[in-house]
Amino acid sequence: MNVPRDQSDNSNEPGAISGVGGDAGLGAKLTRVRRTYGMCGARVTSKLLLHRLLPSERFLHDRVQDVRAFDAEHGVETSAIVLPAALGITGASAEHAVEYSPTAVKSFYFMMRRIGIDPSRYVFVDIGCGKGLVMLLASDFRFQKVVGVEASAQLCEVARSNMAVYESPSQQCMNLELYEGDATAFPMPENNTVYYLCNPFGPVVLDTFLDRLEESLSACPRDVLLVYDYPEPAYPVLDRHPILRQVENYETISPDYTWCYYENATFRGTAE
Ligand SMILES: C[S@@+](CC[C@H](N)C(=O)[O-])C[C@H]1O[C@@H](n2cnc3c(N)ncnc32)[C@H](O)[C@@H]1O
Repeated sequence: MNVPRDQSDNSNEPGAISGVGGDAGLGAKLTRVRRTYGMCGARVTSKLLLHRLLPSERFLHDRVQDVRAFDAEHGVETSAIVLPAALGITGASAEHAVEYSPTAVKSFYFMMRRIGIDPSRYVFVDIGCGKGLVMLLASDFRFQKVVGVEASAQLCEVARSNMAVYESPSQQCMNLELYEGDATAFPMPENNTVYYLCNPFGPVVLDTFLDRLEESLSACPRDVLLVYDYPEPAYPVLDRHPILRQVENYETISPDYTWCYYENATFRGTAE
């Protein structure tokens, strides 16, 4: 089953709107507001706008709110944030890890609609899967397999228990796998793959991961899509890897809801 591509907003040329910060023209600002609305709805957009105008606690938007609702509905625990020092990651990557904080549920479904692929052609891999929230969300699509890669043993425990209790009438992929270990050592599947990264680590580790992806693609050409949520810190590294070309840069009024996606230079789509 294809996920039909959401084409309601076609101002999607790579880099069409640049800089999430402040110096964009009125047109670009309005586009960001419209995109935020399309992705998060009226309530979240109003709170984000109010907070920009009046930076007060009252207007702070809690991004994890919809994840708490998801947890309550499914009897899982994916919403509580875990600071880097409490992740218990060891080895060279430890100092580059960022906190565990989950992807907003609504945004994930939005991104999936936006990239509009036939999931049955792909394995889905969440790099830095934390407590497994995105694995559970991705299992709502008919992927060949959903894989989570996580370096924190504590979070892997939580992810396993979440996977064990999760039930949903909308689940379409039952083939879920967890790889406990560093993303830079993960044996990449030789299938067409959607890689999902929600700001899992700093540029040094990302660079190593992308070098490995390049090597793997040269050795075994295939289609790869890379979706990056909260990409601001990652742009310079992503730009250094010409094997990936940006398809869309979806900037909104909040870096929390900004994401982009790339495909590999030899991407063929369904033309096989
Ligand atoms: C921002 S959280 C994202 C969680 C999940 N992907 C989501 O979107 O809900 C980043 C995760 O990356 C993990 N991580 C950090 N460095 C890692 C590494 N080198 N290898 C694998 N996972 C890592 C962290 O432990 C954390 O769980």
